[in-house]
Amino acid sequence: MALNAIGEVDMNSTIATIMRHRSVRHFTEQAIEADKLEQILNCALAASTSSFIQCTSIIRVSKPALRQQLAEYAGGQGYVASAAEFLVFCADFNRHQQIHPEAQLGFTEQTLIGAIDTALMGQNALLAAQSLGLGGVFIGGIRNNPQQVTALLGLPEHVLPLFGICIGYPAREPQSKPHLPLSIVVHQDQYQQLDRSALAEYDQHIREYYAARSSNTKQTSWSEHVKAALSKESRPFMKEYLNGQGFSLK
Ligand SMILES: Cc1cc2nc3c(=O)[nH]c(=O)nc-3n(C[C@H](O)[C@H](O)[C@H](O)COP(=O)(O)O)c2cc1C
Repeated sequence: MALNAIGEVDMNSTIATIMRHRSVRHFTEQAIEADKLEQILNCALAASTSSFIQCTSIIRVSKPALRQQLAEYAGGQGYVASAAEFLVFCADFNRHQQIHPEAQLGFTEQTLIGAIDTALMGQNALLAAQSLGLGGVFIGGIRNNPQQVTALLGLPEHVLPLFGICIGYPAREPQSKPHLPLSIVVHQDQYQQLDRSALAEYDQHIREYYAARSSNTKQTSWSEHVKAALSKESRPFMKEYLNGQGFSLK
């Protein structure tokens, strides 16, 4: 990125908002103003959508008892209950079935479209919130107990709760977490093998970040984190759950 006259990276406000991203998990009790929430939701709806199919529903969960239950289903994540807002983002082809009862549903491709479109909406919502001085975090933890979440929120067939987003006024300003460098993520023309020296450098960077951050310090590199994360099963009940909701049947 270009540097300005005083040697800082020159960014417009959109890019500055994107680059300032860090997940926020501690919130003040301040409510989000109704007009800000509406802007956030409208930004979600402005995202691109595959074939203009618009297959996402957002459930704003306000009742404290529901929030508490969702926090537990998400693996005891207290901020699901305490954040000013908690939005559950669902892939939704139920709406399409209501419009067209003979719609051909159940294709794996539709699961992909649902996940992609819904994630784009979620990212738009979180960035919009961040641009308004709010903070938040995605909550994939709701997929720890998908059946229970489905029953709690009254989700019919062809609706899939993919993730939640907590949003609120940040009570702390966590440091940004260093993400992988361009040299590892971006490939030129053809897939390239992993650059081990770039990885070693990034591992060291992450080790220093974990050791120095203000809370939950640890002695771990990114490679070690990946090994631990991918050495256990990943929600093995998901295929059966997806099929039960009418997704990925063919
Ligand atoms: C789809 C998705 C699900 C996530 N689920 C959770 C979650 O359940 N709980 C949580 O604390 N963070 C969750 N996160 C946040 C990630 O842990 C976080 O984005 C990652 O550690 C990188 O940190 P950063 O967002 O501060 O850059 C999730 C992120 C994504 C994209």
